[in-house]
Amino acid sequence: MGNLPGMSVLEAGLRNHEWKQIMLAEPPPGSGLKPVLGDAGLPVLGHLIELFRGGPDYVLHLHQTRGPLIYFHHSPSPVVLAIGPDATQELYTNRKKDFSQRGWDPVIGPFFTRGLTLLDFDEHRHHRRILQQAFTAARLTDYVELIDRVVSKVVARDWVADDARFLLHPAMKALAFDIASVVFMGREPGADHERIAKVHRAFAATTVAGEAILRSPVPPFKWWRGLRGRVVLEEYFAAAVQEHRDAGGTDMLTVLCHAEDEDGNRFTDTDVVNHMIFMMMAADDAATSTVTAMAYRLAAHPEWQERARDESARIGDCPLDIEALEKLETLDLVMNESLRLDTPLPFSVRKAVRDTDLLGHYLPAGINVATWPSVNHRLSELWTDPEKFDPDRFVAPRAEHKRHRYAFAPWGGGAHKCIGMTFGRLEVKTVMHRVLRSYRLELPHPNYRARWDYGGVPVPTDGMPIVLRPLTR
Ligand code: HEM
Repeated sequence: MGNLPGMSVLEAGLRNHEWKQIMLAEPPPGSGLKPVLGDAGLPVLGHLIELFRGGPDYVLHLHQTRGPLIYFHHSPSPVVLAIGPDATQELYTNRKKDFSQRGWDPVIGPFFTRGLTLLDFDEHRHHRRILQQAFTAARLTDYVELIDRVVSKVVARDWVADDARFLLHPAMKALAFDIASVVFMGREPGADHERIAKVHRAFAATTVAGEAILRSPVPPFKWWRGLRGRVVLEEYFAAAVQEHRDAGGTDMLTVLCHAEDEDGNRFTDTDVVNHMIFMMMAADDAATSTVTAMAYRLAAHPEWQERARDESARIGDCPLDIEALEKLETLDLVMNESLRLDTPLPFSVRKAVRDTDLLGHYLPAGINVATWPSVNHRLSELWTDPEKFDPDRFVAPRAEHKRHRYAFAPWGGGAHKCIGMTFGRLEVKTVMHRVLRSYRLELPHPNYRARWDYGGVPVPTDGMPIVLRPLTR
């Protein structure tokens, strides 16, 4: 096979490693099912390095050469890669309830214990109904006001213009955390600085722990640091719940302390702690990745940047609300196209809870299955010229995202579809609107191409040096 641009000798060697065909499990006699075939990869590491370095590029290549289901005999958690929109649909809709969220355990389980995505079936439904109270239209209206207040200040005050060394990704990450401090925790940026900085570091440790190669708590490595981070977060949020139980406020922590479903069910203190830790991670990393990818694409496509800026100019600089954000339709198209090409959650994992089948293949109970929306987003049978940045593909009559129900699934699907989708879209549009009102975005040089590290939520390997040219108005 060919090597991808920028691939190291080690990565190229790993990709070209000789495939030793192995079978996941013999299908039951007479079942008519086919076995899932695959490869063991390197001892202990399996194919982790190719997956972390190549991400969707590597899996797309596997799909083209090996088909829709591939078994990787990783120790200690073997996995089947399930590629293509039909596989994604089966796993997300989960009609027979054969697949559990326990598939996430080896990836994030120890650090995000009992977060919403780690709960299953009836228990998940019960928690999701209460959590939904934090995402009503009235709540979202309050959050937008808070988000806009933070974004307006930070974008104008803290960012460095005209400097090719300014790195957009860390700046966006810091901004996302400032937003989260206000919207989720009800703390103004800068307030209680030491304590919040410690929480920030703990979040950083837990979010990268899942990409550890050494997956046990050995100091000072990532897995161990992630577990220590989790302890810090539990202590912080347990104390914060006590402060917020009797308080008023429009931040999400206060909302969750008081949230009640239609039957009067409420969260315990421990539930609130677990949901807050998971949600802040889910919101922060995915929103940072989305905004960074959008800024990169807009810098590379000035015609789209101008179109988006013209719409922003029509709204002007007054405080934002949902109605104003809904008018930014070009940003919706650019966001969709960025989510398609640089999907923040490239895959989702499930675990078969009983012997079952997928696309006519046999899956034994206990096997983890990873489905790859990010790869579906680049299949030539679904998308015209899939590698091209072309936001108009989402507009009727083309509407390419409707060629299959799961052609486009950056927010997941089924019972576990992102509960923060509307919140996330509003947050991302608020940031982009404020950025476009203040700066013109430029690539550091005309041939610049982003490269992503896929160890966790994709992160640009160079921090994304986008140049901000201040606009004179
Ligand atoms: C901005 C970009 C975002 C993207 C691309 C994104 C993507 C996703 C995806 C793909 C899932 C499904 C995971 C699975 O199948 O197991 C998910 C779940 C989830 N997301 Fe998001 N997300 C984003 C933002 C947010 C925000 C802002 C929040 C919270 C405010 C949030 C909270 C959650 C939660 C709680 C779940 C678990 C839902 C459940 O299991 O019922 N996400 N997200």
